[in-house]
Amino acid sequence: MILVTGATGNIGSEVVRLLHRTGERVRILARNPGKVANVGEQFEVVSGDLNQSETLPPALAGVTKLFLMAHAESPPEIAGRVLRAAPGSPLRHVVLISSSTIYLEPSEPPSPRKLASRADAKLTR
Ligand SMILES: NC(=O)c1ccc[n+]([C@@H]2O[C@H](COP(=O)([O-])OP(=O)(O)OC[C@H]3O[C@@H](n4cnc5c(N)ncnc54)[C@H](OP(=O)(O)O)[C@@H]3O)[C@@H](O)[C@H]2O)c1
Repeated sequence: MILVTGATGNIGSEVVRLLHRTGERVRILARNPGKVANVGEQFEVVSGDLNQSETLPPALAGVTKLFLMAHAESPPEIAGRVLRAAPGSPLRHVVLISSSTIYLEPSEPPSPRKLASRADAKLTR
């Protein structure tokens, strides 16, 4: 089972469209399930909020892969909150979609090399 968050957004809706072609079983976590486009029987839509920990375990049940994304201005704590909600679960593969600009100081010019090494350091902590 693959869980997708952010499915009503720019990237998530495209992820869902592409997963539709694979035939994989997909669950969508949405704050407002009524906003999710009609994606067919292959998809299960559950109500949940990445900022509300108690809504996460039911969404994560049986999930092995996760596409995790929210708004650009969403707090970075979301990823930790989701992973803490999945102890003992079969979750093994997480694709976290964020922005490399979170590693920049306000005065710093963008440097892809610097950003990549900071992202690696954060992710392997
Ligand atoms: N779009 C780009 O070109 C681009 C480029 C680089 C990086 N990114 C990064 O990719 C990520 C997604 O971007 P996007 O453009 O697809 O965002 P978006 O269009 O703003 O969509 C955000 C999605 O996240 C959902 N969401 C927000 N807060 C949530 C919460 N607390 N719980 C559950 N779902 C929540 C929204 O649901 P609702 O419908 O309920 O609001 C919506 O489905 C962001 O981190 C962004 O920084 C995007």
